[in-house]
Amino acid sequence: MLRNFISATVTAVSVLSISAFAQAQETVKIGLIVPMTGGQASTGQQINNAIKLYQQKNGDTVAGKKVEVILKDDAALPDNTKRLAQELIVNDKVNIIAGFGVTPAALAAAPLATQAKVPEIVMAAGTSIITERSPYIVRTSFTLAQSSTIIGDWAAKNGIKKVATLTSDYAPGNDALQFFKEHFIAGGGEIVEEVKVPLANPDFAPFLQRMKDSKPDAVFVFVPAGQGGNFMKQYAERGLDKSGIKVIGPGDVMDDDLLNNMGDAALGAVTAHLYSAAHPSAMNKEFVAAYKKAYNTRPGFMAVGGWDGIHLVYEALKKTGGKADGDSLIAAMKGMKWESPRGPISIDPDTRDIVQNIYIRKVEKVDGELYNVEFATFDAVKDPGKTKK
Ligand code: PHB
Repeated sequence: MLRNFISATVTAVSVLSISAFAQAQETVKIGLIVPMTGGQASTGQQINNAIKLYQQKNGDTVAGKKVEVILKDDAALPDNTKRLAQELIVNDKVNIIAGFGVTPAALAAAPLATQAKVPEIVMAAGTSIITERSPYIVRTSFTLAQSSTIIGDWAAKNGIKKVATLTSDYAPGNDALQFFKEHFIAGGGEIVEEVKVPLANPDFAPFLQRMKDSKPDAVFVFVPAGQGGNFMKQYAERGLDKSGIKVIGPGDVMDDDLLNNMGDAALGAVTAHLYSAAHPSAMNKEFVAAYKKAYNTRPGFMAVGGWDGIHLVYEALKKTGGKADGDSLIAAMKGMKWESPRGPISIDPDTRDIVQNIYIRKVEKVDGELYNVEFATFDAVKDPGKTKK
């Protein structure tokens, strides 16, 4: 009797653990932490949309593994990010954490990635320092230094002498400002005013009012994805679009997600960035058409960061033959190269950061819609913001 009981218990326990083991073996779980609510919600929506689209197109199984995405909304608040990352790692036993709509969120998760040896795929945030915070971080978004150095050089070479700057007062805004200034000033330009606005609910009015009087040649603007529409609305309301003061910057302010609703005030804005929905490649045309069909809106650069992030996971799993431990996945991701809707990209094997083309673009009307039309390309740009070792 006792013997029977023991053996039944042993069998039950081993059946249980075998099925738990099989489950752990067969499913690769990605904890996707993005802002789906609050001021940065458009970032999370774009990333989530792109990942769903990728899995519809490519299936949810790769190298014999089912890829399951668990979506969590952190509202871009780093305390939430940290708690959610911890829960995903400890309770859900995710193999990968991904997303990170803002820099403070990406940084908050970094120690957990290191401790748990779980890859952290940064699909949105853009401060240079991020990838240096954990050997388990890989980035598929961009850095502000990549685009701001290039627009700084371009402005100085193209007749812009005096610039006023307006940047969000947090890490990526500070990177944008620093790298723009270095390049613009080295090219002979002058900064006539520097204004920083809070990340949450910024008021652009006092800055724009002063611009009307001081009349620089251009305003250099960095606001994160989601805020460009509001900036351009206030810019147009004050008639600045008719004042001859150009809008320049990294491309975040002209996010495709919002651009077409900005109205003609956006015409002529020149920005440097990684992605335009008008990028003239066959792959991008297909991507834009599929995204529009699914979501009735254009993809922006955040959508592309999500698309490439999930692609990176799929390709890494193919390379490891389905092995999903952090060290195997990170090793597989280093040096990976592929064609993205944005153009050719790769993961720098030394820094785990993205290497990509940066395009200079001008807002124009194409078939009645506003687009960032690319007119110059800088090939395979590495992050200029990495600390020299
Ligand atoms: C960031 O917080 O790193 C960030 C967010 C949105 C952007 C750029 C940078 O458009």
